[in-house]
Amino acid sequence: MKFTLDVNGKRATIDVDDPGMPLLYALRDHMGLHGPRFGCGLGQCGACTVHVDGRAMRSCVTPVASVAGKHVVTLEGLGTPSKPHPLQLAFIEEQAVQCGYCINGMIMQAAALLQTNRKPSDDEIKAALAGNLCRCGTHLRIVRAVKRASGTPA
Ligand code: FES
Ligand code: FES
Repeated sequence: MKFTLDVNGKRATIDVDDPGMPLLYALRDHMGLHGPRFGCGLGQCGACTVHVDGRAMRSCVTPVASVAGKHVVTLEGLGTPSKPHPLQLAFIEEQAVQCGYCINGMIMQAAALLQTNRKPSDDEIKAALAGNLCRCGTHLRIVRAVKRASGTPA
């Protein structure tokens, strides 16, 4: 079964056996995009977050068939090493990463927040990221990084 996906502005056709296969598998295994991470596989940790038509979605529980014809953006599509997204830069500047496993989800969820709320308060950032788990406990630095990216450093 073939699906044409629009990911990071590029079209790619993938051939899968199961239309219910998670989008995460298509991104990582078929397209080589390793920004989105496999954490829980149950929609509970946020490590696999991507944007679908501008909304943050958990790609581990999003069937690949459901995004045909939609615009998917992964961490790789937010910015480049030479021109990083303000959030990618801010996470580096605030040294918000320890093991890094959660960071894809934190950045993608925060990017969706900043699209609708350009100057979020600390409480709004914490509420937006409440469903994204970080086992390393870098939450305070992550909030600072989102504030910095919004132009209002903490
Ligand atoms: S891997 Fe998708 S929410 Fe945990
Ligand atoms: S930095 Fe390790 S899980 Fe968040």
